[in-house]
Amino acid sequence: MNHIIESRQFDLKFINKIFSMADSVEKKTDNSLKGKIMASLFYEPSTRTRFSFESAMLRLGGSVITTENAKEFSSAAKGETLEDSIRVISNYADVIILRHYERGASHRASLVSNIPVINAGDGTGQHPTQALLDLYTIRRELKKIDGIKIALVGDLKHGRTIRSLAYLLGKYKNVEIYFVSPKELRVGEDIKEYLKKHKILYSERENLESIISQIDVLYQTRIQKERFKNEEEYKNFKGCYQIDLHLVNLMKEKSIIMHPLPRVDEILTEVDTSLKAVYFKQAKYGLLVRMALLKFLLK
Ligand code: CP
Repeated sequence: MNHIIESRQFDLKFINKIFSMADSVEKKTDNSLKGKIMASLFYEPSTRTRFSFESAMLRLGGSVITTENAKEFSSAAKGETLEDSIRVISNYADVIILRHYERGASHRASLVSNIPVINAGDGTGQHPTQALLDLYTIRRELKKIDGIKIALVGDLKHGRTIRSLAYLLGKYKNVEIYFVSPKELRVGEDIKEYLKKHKILYSERENLESIISQIDVLYQTRIQKERFKNEEEYKNFKGCYQIDLHLVNLMKEKSIIMHPLPRVDEILTEVDTSLKAVYFKQAKYGLLVRMALLKFLLK
């Protein structure tokens, strides 16, 4: 059984295999998952993850059964536990894509599932397939991952994409990470411990402009309104880092701007036409990486 629960489980051999499969699915038609069924079970909203997984399965010749807003439209609304839902759905499909509002939910699901479970985001926990597509984007756009300097910016306390990506970056050589956030939204101690253990150079700071000319990748994230106790608390941080053309013009010529999306106001739309802005390509690469993952798990 190959569940995909957190990015720490990937080694370089696996990552390279998925990347080379992602390169090849882009080049030719592939119906290798004909007859297979993917269940997507989303308890939290999504545009990219759900649509790209569903598109990936359909492009590989497979079929999809799905519920968005599972909290309301599945029997969770009648009080069914996640475990019971998974036990049942695992008889109807060959793989489950699960997004849930609780940290650890995908791990719990994997313990009772007869089929692979892929974590599509669990609360403030992890988003391992996003981390894979983020790395794939860096590799495609910069042609390297070893030796890069990357700034992870924004709500680092609640951002699961940041957590998963930081773990994966820890597997590469001479990477340097700048965590840029308000002090109240700093990245968790568990990530810092992991980076120290793997001798990855990192620093924490509040000012982005002081390092923007040194980095290869600016990875911007949204301030996650839904994770704050109330609107007042959110408003203290809303708009705290906004990427505009002034900042973009301070960046190195061959640097890139990424964002897992959705964006609210943290990258101004005037930046979208810059050659450095690769966040929509990043979402497109997500389809290729998810096709590769489904093929790897189901073929
Ligand atoms: N990046 C990401 O997970 O986007 P969605 O929430 O739209 O799936």
